[in-house]
Order: sequence, then structure tokens, then C-alpha cells
Amino acid sequence: MYFSEELISEIIEKNDIVDVISQYMNLRRRGNNYVGLCPFHSEKTPSFNVSPDKQLFYCFGCGVGGNVSTFIQKIEKMNYPESLNFLAERVGIEVKGTSNKKEKERIRRRNLLYKINKMAARFFYDNLNNQSSAMKYLRDRGLSIDIIKKFGLGYSLDSWDSIKKYMDANGISPELAYSAGLLAKKTNNDDYYDRFRNRIMFPIIDLKGNVIAFGGRVMDDSIPKYLNSPETEIYSKGNNIYGLNLVKKIRNLKNIIVVEGYIDAISLHQYGINNVVASLGTAFTENQARLLKRYANEIIIAYDSDAAGQAATLKGLAILEKEGCNVKVIRLPKGKDPDEYIRQEGLDSFNELIENCMSLIDYKIYNLKQNTDIATIEGRVKFIKQLASILIVLDSPAEIDAYIKKYSKEMQINERAIYDELNKIKKKHTSGNNRHNIVDRNNITNNRKKVISGELIAEKKLLNICIQDKNRAENIFNQIKPDYFNSPINKKIAEIINLKIKEGKMISAGEIIIHLENEEDTKKAAEIFSIDITDNDLKLVDSYIDKLCQAHIRKRIEELTKKMNEFYEIGDKDKSNELFKEIMELQKKKK
Ligand code: UTP
Ligand code: MN
Repeated sequence: MYFSEELISEIIEKNDIVDVISQYMNLRRRGNNYVGLCPFHSEKTPSFNVSPDKQLFYCFGCGVGGNVSTFIQKIEKMNYPESLNFLAERVGIEVKGTSNKKEKERIRRRNLLYKINKMAARFFYDNLNNQSSAMKYLRDRGLSIDIIKKFGLGYSLDSWDSIKKYMDANGISPELAYSAGLLAKKTNNDDYYDRFRNRIMFPIIDLKGNVIAFGGRVMDDSIPKYLNSPETEIYSKGNNIYGLNLVKKIRNLKNIIVVEGYIDAISLHQYGINNVVASLGTAFTENQARLLKRYANEIIIAYDSDAAGQAATLKGLAILEKEGCNVKVIRLPKGKDPDEYIRQEGLDSFNELIENCMSLIDYKIYNLKQNTDIATIEGRVKFIKQLASILIVLDSPAEIDAYIKKYSKEMQINERAIYDELNKIKKKHTSGNNRHNIVDRNNITNNRKKVISGELIAEKKLLNICIQDKNRAENIFNQIKPDYFNSPINKKIAEIINLKIKEGKMISAGEIIIHLENEEDTKKAAEIFSIDITDNDLKLVDSYIDKLCQAHIRKRIEELTKKMNEFYEIGDKDKSNELFKEIMELQKKKK
């Protein structure tokens, strides 16, 4: 294709650089220029400048710059002629000459698919207004007529060919409607049928306002709950964010809230919280992070509080952080998503959640706390190590100090153990300020020993009490089971005693030894029963029992967490959520 000098000038002139760039990112006026966060590198303060007078852009951070065509080449990943074509089309200039037939055909196809999706969106919208049960469903879920319109919600009829027929009547072949993702077909023949049947339809709209895909929700409990358009020539899942087309229009956007679901986003918008988008499902991608960053640097994640949601939050955080975003987290109470929360608790309450959102560091520590059991040795070591690796990113020693103080107190961990770990990571051994270099390994080891020996002592004492007093023995085994005992020999003895107790009988140390199989065990048992029980021990029975119960709960939490992770890995959200609930119940009992 040939572009004459004049044609190029005309294309560049008609595409005002501020207009064009504003379609891709948030620009703020500063003096004669506009500034924003550079879409081409990670930054937290804006160094991307656009000059309307010169019709140029320049980033003081990464050095990219040029005219409107340079910008399009970079952001749309096009070459020079492609960018000219793109800009020409944008302002309706016809470019003659057809050397780039392929590109033209591609653009033509895309425009056609946009048109078809838009037709479908209208069709669904009209269906909704004619179908009282679908409308009732949305109204019952608390959505207003205005918000239904704003998001262009619709309804796909309970039919195998209504879309097909509608398209046909409008001159769109089944093949084309299939390419747009609206029809499906049997694998072995060309039998096309409506992909979306009897579902509430959520159009997905790109940043230029094109309908590019749909999500469709059932109105009952059938599965899949949501059916989404397949990947098409105009839709690729990880490259779009639901609602960003609306959010990008907000002036002076301070931050963007990211939720998981369609309804969550819509519901918050209805309550007047306009800066909300949905990532749709749990996998947050780098491209989505980059898109968000064009419009706001502060991103607040408000995912469901279930296990999958938490894991997704952490993943999303990591990706957003990598892109240089300032990330915060809203913590929703157990079992609620943003939609349920705001409808039950109201706008003020949700705004409070936003105000009290957690910083990235606090959220990471919170999560670590939830997933580590510091009453076990492994848990403690893991907590200290990971806390150190979280804190290491902080520059300010005062801040590090404050966090260490807070959590060493809360988690009853030696401050110096954390410093020790930090120093290990830093491998920095300056001698002047030895505060940060105190090494106190003995202290950690002593703590570990204390935990273990505390439990072992409780086990031994309880066994001894059992062979002395039948009532106490009954009381003990009403509250704990033999497998609460951690040491194998103690457990064996406990089993023997428990059996007898259940028969209403007492058992002596001598009898117990008869039941043991080998010499080694006999020796150990003899040692166990060699200790004396004092009056004080009898007063402490309840606390010994409690020690064993707590140890058992911890063990159980560990097992369930492992299982939960396994289910989560294989994508079984229901099972992992179930286990998560169980774990949380146990956490409540934990002291
Ligand atoms: P949720 O299961 O949390 O649903 O899925 P939701 O958004 O709260 O929806 P309601 O309130 O029950 O109507 C969160 C998001 O994950 C995607 C959808 O984008 C959904 O909004 N998802 C979920 C699917 O794509 N398919 C599914 O089957 C389920
Ligand atoms: Mn929901």
C-alpha cells in the first residue's frame, strides 16, 4: 500500500494525540501538557507526558516517545503502515491501494464480528424485556432497571435456534454467527445450534466500546453456572477486564477495585461505587494487570473470602505488584462475596471495608498467619522465614522494626529470631549497628524444645493418672482419644487403657506391660510409669487434656490444609471450600 506524504500528514493531523492516547489510558492535565502512568514500563508516579501543542508524547522514565503513529505502533503492536491504516480508519479517511490485503481482510472480519455481537446484545436485551421470569430473576437479585440498562444485560431464550434464526433473518450465516461465538455445533457435522439457552446474558465490552463476548448465567442451580463465549478472533479471555470500558471514563480516578464476578461488579456500581471491574473467574493475567495500570496505579482487590478466592488474591497481588501497581486488599467476612456483602450490610459498611483495606505487607502476613501453625516447630520456622522474606522488601528500618515488634508479640516469637532470618537473607554483616545482626539460634531451639516437651510431659502425666484413678481415667478418655497422643508408645498405652476403661475396668501398669509386644516398648513403658503424680498434677488434669486437644487440632488442620491444597490444585473448588470451612472451624477452637 502506498501512503503519499500528503496522506500521511492528513492522517496524523486528524488524529489528535491526546484523543488517541486517552482511549488507552488515563491522562491528567498538568500545565500545557498531559501526564499519566507510562503503559510501556512499570512505574508508580507518572512520567509519561503528552504535548497537545507539539502532538508528541515522551516518557521521562523509559525514554519512549514519538508521534501518534509511534504510540499506536507500540501499543497495538503494529508496524508503521499498519498504524497509519488503523489511524486512517479511525477518522474515516479512505486509503487506496491494496498491497496489504490480508490486514484489510482481518479488519473487515473483526468489524463484522463486532457487528454480529452487537446485534446479539440487542436481541438479548429485547428478549429480557419480553421475558418476565428473566427480568424477575434480576430484580429479585436486587438489580435496578437502570443498572440492567447500563450493563446491557439480556436474556437468551429457552430455544435451540432462536439466535440462529434471528441472525439468519438479518443476513448472518450460521458459520459467521459460529465464528462470533454465538452458535455451537456438533463435532461431526455442521449442525449449528444456539450456544446460549435460557440464560441471563452479560455482554463483555472492550475499551473501544465493542461487544466482544458474552457470559451467560443460569437462573437456577444447574451447571455450568456461567457459560462464556469461546475464544474468537475478537475475544481472548486473559486480555479483557469486565467493566473497564465504564471505569475508564471516570475523571480523576484514584483507584480501581477488582472483584471476581459479573454480579459483584454490577451490584457495587448500583450502589454508586463506580470504580469496580471484574476479572471474571480466578486467573488474573499480566495483560489484565497492564490494562488496569493504564487507568489507575492503586488497585484494590476484593475477592471472595473462600480458599480459592484467597489463593487467587495472592496470585493476583503478585502479578499486579510485578507490574508496579500499588496493591491493597479488602478482606470480606467469611462466606460473602462483594455483592452479598453490600446488599446485606449496606454502602456505608462497604465503604468502611474500602477505608480499612489492608496493605500488601499486612495481607501477606495475615495470610501467612492463617496458613501456619506456630505452635508446631515446623510452623514456627516457616513463619519466621516467610515473615522475614515479606519484610525484606521494606526500605525503612523503623517500619521493619515496627512489624517485627507487632508480630513477635502477637505470635510469641522471639524478635531476634526474625532479625536473624532477615540478616541471613540480606547477608549483610555490618558491624556498626549490631541490633540487626544479633544471632540467637539457641533461643529458637529452646522454644522448639519447650513445645515438644510440654506435650510429652502432659501425655505421660495423663497416662499415670489413668492407672491411679478410674473416675479420672474415664473423664480423660471421654475428652480425648488415644490417637491424640503424639508419641507412638504413649499412644499404644493409651489404646490399651482406653479399651479397659470402656469395659468399665481399671488397669495397672503391670498389666499394661503384658499387652506390649516387644522389649523396647516394655522398657519405654517402665520409664513412663516411673514418674510420680503429685496433688498439683491432679489439679492440672484439665490443662494436660487441653494440651493434647490443641495438639490434635493442629495436626488435623495441617492434614486438612494439605488435602485442601490438593483439591485446589486439581481445580475442585467445592471440595477445597468445604475443607477450608472445616479448617476455619478448627481454627476457632485453637488457642
Ligand atoms: P462465582 O461462582 O463467585 O459467581 O464466580 P458469582 O459471580 O458470585 O455469581 P452469582 O452471584 O452466583 O451470580 C465468579 C466468576 O467466575 C466466573 C464468572 O465470571 C463469575 O462471575 N465463572 C464462575 C465462570 O466463568 N463459570 C462458572 O461456571 C462459574
Ligand atoms: Mn455472587
